[in-house]
Amino acid sequence: MSDLREIAEKLIVEHTLSREEWQRLLEHRDREITERIRSAARRETDRIFGRQVFVRGLIEFTNICKKDCYYCGIRKSNSCVERYRLTEEEILSCCKDGYEAGLRTFVLQGGEDGYFTEERICSLVSEIHTKYQDCAITLSVGEWKRESYERFFSAGAERFLLRQETANAEHYGKLHPANQPYETRMECLRNLKDIGYQTGCGFLVGSPYQTTDCIIEDLLFLERFRPQMVGIGPFLPAKNTPFEAKKAGSSELTLFLLSAIRLSLPEVLLPATTALGTARSDGRLQGLLHGANVIMPNLSPTRVRDKYALYDNKVHSGNEAAEHLEALRKELEKEEFTVAISRGDSPGFAK
Ligand code: 5AD
Repeated sequence: MSDLREIAEKLIVEHTLSREEWQRLLEHRDREITERIRSAARRETDRIFGRQVFVRGLIEFTNICKKDCYYCGIRKSNSCVERYRLTEEEILSCCKDGYEAGLRTFVLQGGEDGYFTEERICSLVSEIHTKYQDCAITLSVGEWKRESYERFFSAGAERFLLRQETANAEHYGKLHPANQPYETRMECLRNLKDIGYQTGCGFLVGSPYQTTDCIIEDLLFLERFRPQMVGIGPFLPAKNTPFEAKKAGSSELTLFLLSAIRLSLPEVLLPATTALGTARSDGRLQGLLHGANVIMPNLSPTRVRDKYALYDNKVHSGNEAAEHLEALRKELEKEEFTVAISRGDSPGFAK
């Protein structure tokens, strides 16, 4: 087995590692290697995207969900959640605010809410698509049959986010009830990519029962699947869920994995997520400094932001809020980043 430093150089130059090499790197990395990988990841990001940060307006349009993921604060069985759903007018008004603030991507994210049928989602997407022709629409609405994904795509949704959460089937089974099989998630991901969506997947860092092997499987899965986007964030416990007393995932490991993913898939769109920004106050900036290139300011009406609580203590009134985009811009300028007013497509999908 080669020396740790050689493994790091291989990742930086060849963008790929074997299972054994990932294991060595994850288990034995020291500060020097970690910093070497961080700076290489940032350099790679600069090479591909420059200092431009892409922004996406996140609209959390419903917190009603028929799924029962053990980690998630808005799971069906959590009876302590005050449920809401935005009206079509409210959603369109979020888009209007976002457009005026300079956002050119809208991410419609919600629980799997039966009210939002295929027809309703299609009509919402096509309305936004018609009104904002220079914008990209991203859906993050969970698991559907292939035909539904096809109809959303025809209606104008070009991107879809669906994290695999964990690429290890056995681990997946410990995070989800038996009626939410791993195979369904994987089939959805394959369908999305096959239809032609810019597809985003990703995983929880430090979720209960996760081992180093699970993380390695996630990294190998990403390399095989080649998504256009990858969202990762630390697991954060949520009250009134089976995992409420479990310990939070490490933000340090999340940052390291952001760098590792940037090196493994150089062109991938990589957000510095809200969960990372919740785990530590400088989380999103650190994310960018570790190779992330996307930030997703919250466009949801302020009255519902607290209710879309996937985990506890979610940040919601600072620079992650879309109404403070100007403040975010100033904060990023200090680190010589600029906020792009563009759709921010994956390089392979440039319009
Ligand atoms: N901690 C961190 N992230 C979570 N998500 C859901 N629940 C939690 C939690 N407790 C993430 C999942 C999901 C995304 C929308 O939010 O990875 O895919």
